[in-house]
Amino acid sequence: MNKVKSDFSRRGFLKKVTAGIYGLITFMAGIPLVSFFVSPAFIKSKNMWIEIGAVEDFNNENPLGVNYNKEIKDGWNKRTVSSTAWVYRSKGELIALSPICTHLGCTVSFDEERESFACPCHGGLYDKEGNVIGGPPPKPLKRHEIKFEAGKLLIGEPVDRSSGVA
Ligand code: FES
Repeated sequence: MNKVKSDFSRRGFLKKVTAGIYGLITFMAGIPLVSFFVSPAFIKSKNMWIEIGAVEDFNNENPLGVNYNKEIKDGWNKRTVSSTAWVYRSKGELIALSPICTHLGCTVSFDEERESFACPCHGGLYDKEGNVIGGPPPKPLKRHEIKFEAGKLLIGEPVDRSSGVA
């Protein structure tokens, strides 16, 4: 009677150990699988430099709307978005402004006669440098980071100028 009870408890113990080992193996094998599916949801796209043309093409003093495509990766979602940058020279320096109004995100356009950017939504007005001169926008237009490579002009993410970064 005692021997049967002893066998039974040993068998039960071995079953539990085996189940524990299987559970541990399944858990260890599942970590890479779960991270493969879950981690992209937390990855935002990095700042990418986009070539928008030859530097010599931008000698204009009035802002020129330059269209470009940008690939955005947000989690599993990858899409191409069209955007515009207002590019011009001011005192010899190349400037690329974002066209996104800092009030509620409408697209501004440049009015050559008034030398200012106008927002069609709520009457926001910016001077040629992108500073607010009228209407509800709380901040200046964002300015793209720029760099030059082999005679080409590349723009990065637009930067909030009110934070003092650019
Ligand atoms: S979105 Fe431009 S002024 Fe409101």
